[in-house]
Amino acid sequence: MSIFPVSSDVPFKPRFLWRNGHLVPWNEATVHVSSIGHASISSVFEGIKAYWNADDEQLYVFRLEEHIDRLMESIRLVRLTTRYTRDEILQGVLDLLSANETRADVYIRPWIYATAHVREMMVPAGTDCDVVIDTWWFQSRMLEERGVRTIVSSWSRIDESSMPPRIKAFSNYHNSRLGVLEARSRGSEWPIFLDRRGKVTEGPASCIAMIRRGMLITPPLSSGILDSITRRTVLTLAPEILGIPVVEREIDRTELYLADELFYMGTGWEILPIIEVDDLQIAGGAMGPMTRRLDRAYHDIVRGLTHAHDEWRSITPRLRVSA
Ligand SMILES: Cc1ncc(COP(=O)(O)O)c(C=O)c1O
Repeated sequence: MSIFPVSSDVPFKPRFLWRNGHLVPWNEATVHVSSIGHASISSVFEGIKAYWNADDEQLYVFRLEEHIDRLMESIRLVRLTTRYTRDEILQGVLDLLSANETRADVYIRPWIYATAHVREMMVPAGTDCDVVIDTWWFQSRMLEERGVRTIVSSWSRIDESSMPPRIKAFSNYHNSRLGVLEARSRGSEWPIFLDRRGKVTEGPASCIAMIRRGMLITPPLSSGILDSITRRTVLTLAPEILGIPVVEREIDRTELYLADELFYMGTGWEILPIIEVDDLQIAGGAMGPMTRRLDRAYHDIVRGLTHAHDEWRSITPRLRVSA
């Protein structure tokens, strides 16, 4: 039930990570212990996936440009600065994947943290940042019959007026974690967060959508959620693949219980069916037919099995870069 496996027995281990414009051997990428805690307060990051297609001998990075654009937006919103441009960071991702000779599915995490002022919690605006790009293997569960049990969390989602979820900041995951701990303590798997008015927002690391009365319905971006790239993808695919309209509107808690189908969507979780909310079964307690078709379409696109939406995939050049 963890997002990433903790086992050291993984089929692919990267040799390098990218730090401030250089490929650094994994074991040498250290920081001083005094910088860990405080620097993370204003840290922002991205979560990207690259999928290995063995037949094409290609590693496809999914919607890389949009992820790097969102990273730059997060950096702007926390008012930090970086010496690296959007294009340099984007190229850093591709260089890192090439240097690691990545022939596996990997998660990629570019992140920034304030290097100076290590004991200062109120990191001043304009502080220069280190940029690190980290990557590791993950196991996709796409195409498996699957489904998770959820609860509506008693913790309200952080919001625009306190800790804006639009900023992809590590600090926001304190709220997510409290919800996850609550779900586990109540014998469930994952939480769904409501805002302070009782309207559905998102999951701990994903957005949420429901199928009801022949429509795909999801809370709007102004509901205090991350501007999810998987959500954008699903909003494009639902009319194309399912032939149904998409509606961005508020969702009540009771509507969740009445959903024909419900799923989380996010880079890490891909399309993750929800089969229970607060002890009430959804879609008969199994992955629903529309969710299954979306899962298949998403799978085929991210893995490059179709030419549909070729524009969403970046190809990793097969150059080998020495450190
Ligand atoms: C809080 C939160 N919401 C939504 C998402 C989904 O965003 P994306 O589809 O861009 O990965 C994430 C992903 O990490 C997240 O952490």
